[in-house]
Amino acid sequence: MPFLCVNVDHVATIRQARLGTEPDPVTAAAIAELAGATGIIMHLREDRRHIQDRDIELINRTIQTKFNFEMAATEEMQALALKYKPATVCLVPEKRKELTTEGGLNCIGNEEKLKDYLAPLHELGVRSSLFIDADPEQIEAAKKIGAHYVEIHTGHFADAATRPEQKKELDKIIKGIELSQSYGLKVNLGHGLNYINIKDFAKVPGICEYSIGHSIMARAIMIGLDKAVRDMIEIINSFVD
Ligand code: PXP
Repeated sequence: MPFLCVNVDHVATIRQARLGTEPDPVTAAAIAELAGATGIIMHLREDRRHIQDRDIELINRTIQTKFNFEMAATEEMQALALKYKPATVCLVPEKRKELTTEGGLNCIGNEEKLKDYLAPLHELGVRSSLFIDADPEQIEAAKKIGAHYVEIHTGHFADAATRPEQKKELDKIIKGIELSQSYGLKVNLGHGLNYINIKDFAKVPGICEYSIGHSIMARAIMIGLDKAVRDMIEIINSFVD
């Protein structure tokens, strides 16, 4: 059975809008774990636009399930991963101007570099994942790198404008999953998955984890808003007796 890992970056995005202390992504992580998530993901970006160093330090101390540290393959991030030894690192490409991770990592031609980058982490028992498009050449490169997992990018599938286009992307992903498995790579899926489109994967065998952030946080706001407003009205009403 596949598992759910929850990405809490958006909680940090709301906090950083006021540069304050709430909402706290580490608290959100604990709530997600209590609700049954089997892992927590945080992406510490070079520009620190959402997750902060303090979040990585705290999640490392409080995690009850497993922490998946999403990061660009930079020296700075490698040093942090060596310090905190998360259960998994997930290497992603990072562009300063992008709204979110826009595509998969380019592993082709970077096999030796990425293998060397991951080697000290593997030695410490940290497992590795490469966020890649469902491209057979990328999957082959991921195998050469010796990563434990590939996280196949589902963003193009999620963004497809029509059902036939979406089906085409789905087929590519399914072929990518099969190829990865034939190479002995474990497969996770992530990006743009929501409460509707995830159902397309119901019958696809061999998926280890779904990595989901945006749609869960979007739903949390909608479901939680009713109570949040009622709680504030109750306080205000208590002023008048
Ligand atoms: N996987 C990776 C590698 C990502 O970069 C992201 C977005 O931060 C996700 C999964 C989660 O995507 P979403 O927020 O669209 O569910």
